[in-house]
Amino acid sequence: MAVKNAMTSDYLHSAYGGESMAHMRYLTWAAMAEKEGFKNIGRLFEAIAFAEQVHANNHYREIGGDTAADATVVAGAVFGTGKTVDNLQGAINGELHEVEQMYPVYLNTAELQKEKGAEKSFHFALEAEKIHADLFADAQKAAKKEKDMDFKGVYICPICGHTVLNEAPDNCPICGAKKELYKQF
Ligand SMILES: [Fe+2]
Ligand SMILES: [Fe+2]
Repeated sequence: MAVKNAMTSDYLHSAYGGESMAHMRYLTWAAMAEKEGFKNIGRLFEAIAFAEQVHANNHYREIGGDTAADATVVAGAVFGTGKTVDNLQGAINGELHEVEQMYPVYLNTAELQKEKGAEKSFHFALEAEKIHADLFADAQKAAKKEKDMDFKGVYICPICGHTVLNEAPDNCPICGAKKELYKQF
C-alpha cells in the first residue's frame, strides 16, 4: 500500500537512503575487519549489513509506486577511518542516532498520520537497531583488546532484521517469524 501523507513519505525516503548507505558501509567495514584479522567482527558487519537491507526493502515497499526520479533523500552518513576500532565507533554512533533520534520521530509521525505500513516498517527497524548498537559495542570492547568476537554464528530475521548470536529463537521476538526463516552468517 502506497504511503499517502507527505511527511511520512519523506521519512520513508530518508530512512531508505540511510539504510542503503548503512548496508554498503557495513560491507566495506566487514572487508576491513577481515583484513585486520577480526573474522567474526567481519561476519557481524556482514550479517548486520543484511539486516539493514531488510529495513531498506521494507521502507521501499511502503513508499510504493513513487517513480519520481528527482526525490531528494536526506540521510545522515558515517565515514570510518578504516581501522576497525574506529569503524565500530562510527557504527555505534549511527545506530544510536537511529535508536534515539531518527526512528522514534519517524515512528511517531507514521502513528500520527495513521500510516499503518510505515509504522510497522519503522517499528521493525527501531527494535532491530537497538540490538545492533549493543552488538557493535561488544565488538568494539573485543577489538580494543585486539581480540575477535566469540560466537558460533549470527542470525538475521529476513522480515524485520532482528539480529541474534549463536542460535535463532523459535519465533522472532519482534515480528513473530519462524526460526527456519532466519538467515545464518
Ligand atoms: Fe542497524
Ligand atoms: Fe523478525
